[in-house]
Formats: sequence, C-alpha cells, structure tokens
Amino acid sequence: MNNFESIENFIKNVPKSELHLHIEGSLEPELMFKLSKRNKVEIPFKSIEEIRSAYNFSNLDSFLKIYYEGSNVLITEQDFFDLTWEYILKCKRDNIVHTEIFFDPQSHTERGIEFDTVINGINKALIKAKSEFGITSEIIMCFLRHLDEELCFEVLKHATKHKDKIIGVGLDSSEKGNPPQKFKRLFDAAIKEGFLTVAHAGEEGPPEYIWESINLLKVKRIDHGVQCLKDKKLVEILKEKNIPLTVCPLSNIKLCVFDKLENHNLKEMLDNGLRVMVNSDDPAYFGGYLNTNLIETSKALNLRIEDIKVLIKNSFKSSFLDEKSKNSWLNKI
Ligand code: ADE
Ligand code: ZN
Repeated sequence: MNNFESIENFIKNVPKSELHLHIEGSLEPELMFKLSKRNKVEIPFKSIEEIRSAYNFSNLDSFLKIYYEGSNVLITEQDFFDLTWEYILKCKRDNIVHTEIFFDPQSHTERGIEFDTVINGINKALIKAKSEFGITSEIIMCFLRHLDEELCFEVLKHATKHKDKIIGVGLDSSEKGNPPQKFKRLFDAAIKEGFLTVAHAGEEGPPEYIWESINLLKVKRIDHGVQCLKDKKLVEILKEKNIPLTVCPLSNIKLCVFDKLENHNLKEMLDNGLRVMVNSDDPAYFGGYLNTNLIETSKALNLRIEDIKVLIKNSFKSSFLDEKSKNSWLNKI
C-alpha cells in the first residue's frame, strides 16, 4: 500500500463528525427527478444527466438560483424524510457518527409548505438514524439573509415551538451586500430564546462580515470564513477565542472562491493555528460528500495524516455534543 492509499483508508475508516451540511443541498438528481414525478412539480430538466450537466457555477448566487429551484420538488413530510434519510445513508457509508444539519425553512414556507411539515420530516429521519445506526445529530435553522429581518422574525416564532428539535440558528444565502449587522436584533431575540448561533461569513464576503458575526451575532462558529487570512488582527482574534471555521473545500472550488483545490488556503489556515475542519456544504451539487472532500483536499494540499487527525478532532471539539461524548470520540482518533 502506498502512502496515499493508507491516508485514504484512514479517512474512510476513522469516525467523523460534520458541522456544515445543508440538507436541501444533499438532494441528488435521482431523488429530485423522482419527487418531481411523485408531486407533479415541473423542473426545467428532461433527464438526470441534464440536471447534472447544469451544475456549473460561476459564484454563490449562480448556485443559489439552481439550489432554490431544486428545492421546489420538496412538498410533503415524506419528501423531507426521504431527503434526510438518503443523507443519513451517506453518513453511514462515510462513517460520520455525528452530524449537525442546516435547513432553510423560508425556501419552503414561501411556497406554502408548513414549517411543521419540514421539521417533522427531517426530525423523524434523524430519530431513525439514531435508533438504527447510532448516528447522533442536531438541527440548525438558517435564516435567508437576502430577505428582510422582519420576515425572519416570523420563522423564529415557528422555531420556538420546536426548541426540542432545533439547537441553533444560522445565516445563509447570498452573502455580498447582506452583512450580518442586518440581523442583529433577530439574533439577539434568538439568543434570548435559548438558541445557539452560527453564521456563514467570509465565504465570498469580506473579513468585516466575520467581525460582525463574532461581535454582533455572538456566533459559536463561523461557516466558511476562508477570507479571514486577509486580516491579520482577525486571525489573532479567531485564534485567541478558538472560534471554529467550518471550511468546505469542494464547495469553494465549485463556486470559484479558489481557482483550484491546490490553491485552497485550508493548509495555511491550519498552519496559522486556526480551528478549521472539513465539511461538504451541498454535496449533491458540489461533487462529493465528506470523505471525498477530505480525500481530494488531502491529495491536493499534500496533507499528512497528523493534519487530517487535527481536522477531524477539530470537528468533534467544535460540535454541539456534550463534553463526555466529545471526549469519547476524540479518544478514538
Ligand atoms: N445555502 C446553501 N449553501 C450555501 C452556501 N455555500 N453559502 C451560502 N448559502 C448557502
Ligand atoms: Zn453552507
């Protein structure tokens, strides 16, 4: 076995956690096609191959347009259950033992789908994941930042009725021009209700959006954050406060944040002592789940097995698992 084969085997077999996964972004073309027929929802594609070949993006917004269109096929509780269960089967295959899942309720409630339909379908699949495979999970509700704060307060009201299922709130969608400060009152209200907070920041947007997420939204983690290296003072603060950055390498390539994986700054972030880990973001659209992200990135950046262990440990350490569960997984890596 050559050196890279042994790294690949290590990645496949080690228990892993995932902290940045949009459940709607795990909608594979096959399921999209099946649900479009089941629910009689038209999609602008004639075949599964045609769907796949449409996945060429130039930036975040060009992806989001297709991603929201894809979500239109999700109508019933069974659809949300099936979507989540398919992702859980990928977790089982990839040896992901803990996952923290984002969902975008506003992309469904805007189409007349009840909030309860969405959350109950997702939650039932996660209960089954725990009982059949022992896979643990949390749910994080994301606000769509291209919408007004006022509309987001409506969805926060729904979330408060499902506090037993939702651990935290996040911020996603079109980043540039929608700074975190736009949502300060909303996040204050969410924190008052007992939700933990995270936010997408510094994916395409400037380091300033990372500062605002920390100082105004009081986030426990930054999602992406790859633009932080442009600001030395920010890097110092991220290190000092041990703020996790949920990096998604294949996503960054597909959305042209970096031109190729060999030029991704993950290794530089690691070498700077930042608490980074690898995640898949929207794997059905970006060409791979967690193991593929880890394997491809390790190859492109020449990561050593020690680097990969740090990434995987960082993910458990940064999760919303209790200390006992964290330590028990950390001892297995
Ligand atoms: N929604 C789904 N994927 C996203 C991403 N990578 N950035 C912002 N919003 C998203
Ligand atoms: Zn994301």
